Amino acid sequence: MPIPGWLLAWRGRMLANERFQRWAANFLLTRPVARRHAQRAFDLCAGFVYSQVLAASLRAGILDALSRTAKSEAALAEVSGLTPDRLSLLLAAGESLELFERRGAQRWGLGPVGAALSANAGALAMVKHHELFYADLSDPLALLRGDTKKTHLTEYWSYAGAGEANEVQGYSELMARSQPMVAREILRAWDFRRHAVVLDVGGGEGAFLKHVAAAAPKTRLQLFDLPEVVSRASRTLDAAGLGARVALHGGSFLKDELPKGADLITLIRVAHDHDDEAVRTLFGRIRAALPVGGRLLLAEPMSGARGAGRMADAYLAFYLLAMGQGRPRTSARLCEMLLAAGFRTARPVPTHMPMLTSIVVAEA
Ligand SMILES: C[S@@+](CC[C@H](N)C(=O)[O-])C[C@H]1O[C@@H](n2cnc3c(N)ncnc32)[C@H](O)[C@@H]1O
Repeated sequence: MPIPGWLLAWRGRMLANERFQRWAANFLLTRPVARRHAQRAFDLCAGFVYSQVLAASLRAGILDALSRTAKSEAALAEVSGLTPDRLSLLLAAGESLELFERRGAQRWGLGPVGAALSANAGALAMVKHHELFYADLSDPLALLRGDTKKTHLTEYWSYAGAGEANEVQGYSELMARSQPMVAREILRAWDFRRHAVVLDVGGGEGAFLKHVAAAAPKTRLQLFDLPEVVSRASRTLDAAGLGARVALHGGSFLKDELPKGADLITLIRVAHDHDDEAVRTLFGRIRAALPVGGRLLLAEPMSGARGAGRMADAYLAFYLLAMGQGRPRTSARLCEMLLAAGFRTARPVPTHMPMLTSIVVAEA
């Protein structure tokens, strides 16, 4: 049952009331809740600073140096080029965020958050890439109003806006680096061995297909992306010994038909990059390329997925706003659009980590 409006208004008045805040912080039973609320509000105010502490630790080479073994402050000063007092300031800040941990007098190792991040090349590449995003966010209201047309992210994602790409190296490498964590989730949720031919649309340098190749050795593979990206895919797949196994097709899914022959088409982190009209065109082309009974597996962070609210509705929505096109969608909205494009059925498939990726599967 929804909470009545008058009750929500009363709760809002109480939480904003200074006397109530003081009482809640002093009373034994409400104290933990009051502290949690205060901490959450503070984290919201200070989040940018936390991100910059992480960015500085990464750029100074400290995360990397500690990922091998614990080190003395003197050794870290040499790695980072920072003076001892500035290094202590950074290490103490990182300690408060669980990036670093003291291991004796003037010795440091990675804390739990630092250890998890240092093992994740994709997350670290995103931390570096955020330089551009955060520069675009310096005036968030101007971005919302649409005053800022040319952003760092519009230039970075060269297909944004014009629908064509020329400079593709930066984003293709970034996507390839962050693909393993996404691929792991998808392969856990879906058995690719049941498909004879898989076509990955917007498949980048073929990073996802490398994972499918290992998980489904008998499945034939196809990749479709913009021509400039496909020539990069050709080199990386050759280097991985998969050149003969993956058929490559260059083109634009906004203008060209997709190759036929696959019984499963995958669309990974692609739909959210595009406005509704482009997604309708893309879904129509995918439907036309599939035989009756063929499937589309669409994977990306989705709005409204369990535990994914901040990722999809705050982070990704503002990221795409800065990129100049696209939007996070709910699984229900994607299913609706797929049915409208002529698919017979469309349904969400559960994943372990919806914050990273949610899945919708549609049958032609
Ligand atoms: C965000 S990246 C995702 C890449 C890959 N699927 C992954 O998850 O790592 C989007 C991909 O869609 C491709 N793309 C964008 N617009 C396209 C178009 N009109 N036709 C074909 N590919 C396109 C891009 O070149 C890029 O490789």
